[in-house]
Amino acid sequence: MRLAGKTALITGAARGIGRAFAEAYIAEGARVAIADIDAARVAQTAADIGAVPIVMDVTDQASIDAGVAQAVADLGGIDILINNAALFDLAPIVDITRDSYDRLFSINVGGALFTLQAVARHMIDTGRRGKIINMASQAGRRGEPLVAVYCATKAAVISLTQSAGLNLIAHGINVNAIAPGVVDGEHWDGVDAKFAAYEGKPRGQKKAEVGAAVPFGRMGTAADLTGMAVFLASPEADYIVAQTYNVDGGNWMS
Ligand SMILES: NC(=O)c1ccc[n+]([C@@H]2O[C@H](COP(=O)([O-])OP(=O)(O)OC[C@H]3O[C@@H](n4cnc5c(N)ncnc54)[C@H](O)[C@@H]3O)[C@@H](O)[C@H]2O)c1
Repeated sequence: MRLAGKTALITGAARGIGRAFAEAYIAEGARVAIADIDAARVAQTAADIGAVPIVMDVTDQASIDAGVAQAVADLGGIDILINNAALFDLAPIVDITRDSYDRLFSINVGGALFTLQAVARHMIDTGRRGKIINMASQAGRRGEPLVAVYCATKAAVISLTQSAGLNLIAHGINVNAIAPGVVDGEHWDGVDAKFAAYEGKPRGQKKAEVGAAVPFGRMGTAADLTGMAVFLASPEADYIVAQTYNVDGGNWMS
């Protein structure tokens, strides 16, 4: 029960990694609000796992403000934020559209920054020495030929984590990030489908290839990431500031 008595807001948690984080936090004794743009799914997931559901679009400032206010009201305050909501897209440089660029930066970067800002204001106002965790990616560590925009958004998340971490530790708020490698689930089913279209591969082949290339020997699962998410939210991480940790089965190192 390393998070007993703590409260957490997790964005993009109707499914996938965010849902696994919510379940892990609840198992460690935290009360959790899950915020997602998918209203039906967030309601179902919240009912399934015992979380507070919040319908929130991280690209909309009014929606962020209302969602954070709802979490504060329902939980009695926010001690931990995980900025997890994100969108993936893929295209060769010559096919990138401005719409895709705007959507990815608005969700992955703007969503993370302005949700972090709203929660940091609350933490400062209430004197909480909170924890903020941003979801980066190995994609933010280096470019990929077909993944320019998503990689750039995740590089921006790593940079924002550094700046926010250095700024907010003056208030006792730790900001750090997790950089997963390749994590199986609905997200990667969509990634696989996009690679199939651009690389002319049968569905499932890209997933098999990336899984086989991981030094650990397989793709990650959401459960592989929960230990780091609990640790970074716990008092054991009080002296950790502005860092991004790879949790990737050795993928980045290879
Ligand atoms: N799956 C991977 O291989 C992988 C690898 C590296 C990093 N990541 C990162 O981990 C995080 C979680 O990934 P996942 O695999 O669970 O993704 P996912 O696509 O399964 O889940 C993302 C969730 O975000 C929600 N969302 C999308 N737009 C939103 C918006 N505007 N406002 C609020 N919610 C919104 C979606 O409805 C969905 O529930 C993301 O930040 C992702 O970039 C994932």
